Amino acid sequence: MMWRKGAMPPTWREKMLDAKKIRKDFPVFDTGIIYLDSAATSQKPRQVIEAVSNFYKTKNSNVARGLYRIAEEATMAYESVRKKAASFINAREAGEIIFTRNTTEGANLVMRGWGEKNMGKGGKVATTMLEHHTNFVPWQVLAKRKGAEFAVAEITDEGLLDEADLEQKIRGASLVAVSAASNVLGTMPDTKKICRIAHDNGALCFVDAAQYAPSIPVNVKEMGCDFLAFSGHKMLAPFGAGVLYGRHDILEDMDPLLYGSEMIREVHPDHSEWAEIPHKFEAGTPAVDAVVGLGAAMDYLSSAGLENIRNHEMELVKLMLERLSEIKGLEILGPEDPGRRGALVAFTVEGVHPHDISAMLSEDNVCVRSGHHCAMPLHTRLGVAASTRASVYLYNTKEDIDALAESLHKVEKLFK
Ligand SMILES: Cc1ncc(COP(=O)(O)O)c(C=O)c1O
Repeated sequence: MMWRKGAMPPTWREKMLDAKKIRKDFPVFDTGIIYLDSAATSQKPRQVIEAVSNFYKTKNSNVARGLYRIAEEATMAYESVRKKAASFINAREAGEIIFTRNTTEGANLVMRGWGEKNMGKGGKVATTMLEHHTNFVPWQVLAKRKGAEFAVAEITDEGLLDEADLEQKIRGASLVAVSAASNVLGTMPDTKKICRIAHDNGALCFVDAAQYAPSIPVNVKEMGCDFLAFSGHKMLAPFGAGVLYGRHDILEDMDPLLYGSEMIREVHPDHSEWAEIPHKFEAGTPAVDAVVGLGAAMDYLSSAGLENIRNHEMELVKLMLERLSEIKGLEILGPEDPGRRGALVAFTVEGVHPHDISAMLSEDNVCVRSGHHCAMPLHTRLGVAASTRASVYLYNTKEDIDALAESLHKVEKLFK
């Protein structure tokens, strides 16, 4: 097809995301909210809501059990999402995808299934000061239980991971746990490099991709991680479906987290044998509806284009950093360069409690999160008890950022 002189070539047009059009797919925006809390959970498009609703209307039945038509259809729908998730993160095979409830369950599965078995007295697990409690507490508990060392790598004053310190802390560790994107500072450590250093030191690498997978393409083969976890609810899917990726050979050797139905091959009065991976990790009836919704969410994200989403977010974050810098007494936490942070900005305002900021913004229908964002060690390191966080996703617009800035100007005036 010919295109008009002066018009953008199709490849360029494809790279732009029409957030105003996208918003129309999200019924919640009819309520008039200005939603800047996608880092906590994303909103859900009609396509996802309908996929869940259609599942209940046409094939509701348990999976991997019944031999009647809709039970087979339900199993096929569930397993097809496993294949989709494998290709979404470029895993070698669907068997490397375990459905969990969320990132937290993924970390706990590794802590119990791999850690309890392989971590010994005198062992070591290394993590970083950037982490969400999900990627901190399980390893701390594991180290305590096993008499192992729990080493936490520092951050720089700019809010970046201190790579040299992490490299040093990795020495002697058998597991390294790092997030691909911080949920407070937005910092995005070089996970590929960290995985390489971990492997050079004989350690495995667990990557928390909760804030990364929703808008940045994940390639587990290229990253070289051994485990990677994320939550569907932060990427347009319903609550209750998450993914844990694990390298095939490691999963084979791991113990299950939960025991009981559907995770067995044979059960005898004196012993039992486990099913093949990934099923040995999925005991009991799974959240089939949420997994079906996760499939629809991945389709939606793929058709919008993750790279387009990331570019859109960077533009909004850049604007947000500019507009927030107009507010007197406001201090931004983390790197100033939008290219070096994820889709969020956390900040403090001198003399104003973050909870008061949230409450005042709510008066203008602006939804942000305040608190320690499940990252207490990080807040302690930053010398603040709490912060306010605004986060964006593919449906946010420049107008949302304007609304945030205007509302914050009101806070500024009130507390002057
Ligand atoms: C970086 C990071 N890791 C882990 C989690 C935990 O996610 P979930 O509550 O879905 O398990 C979050 C949630 O905010 C997060 O931001």
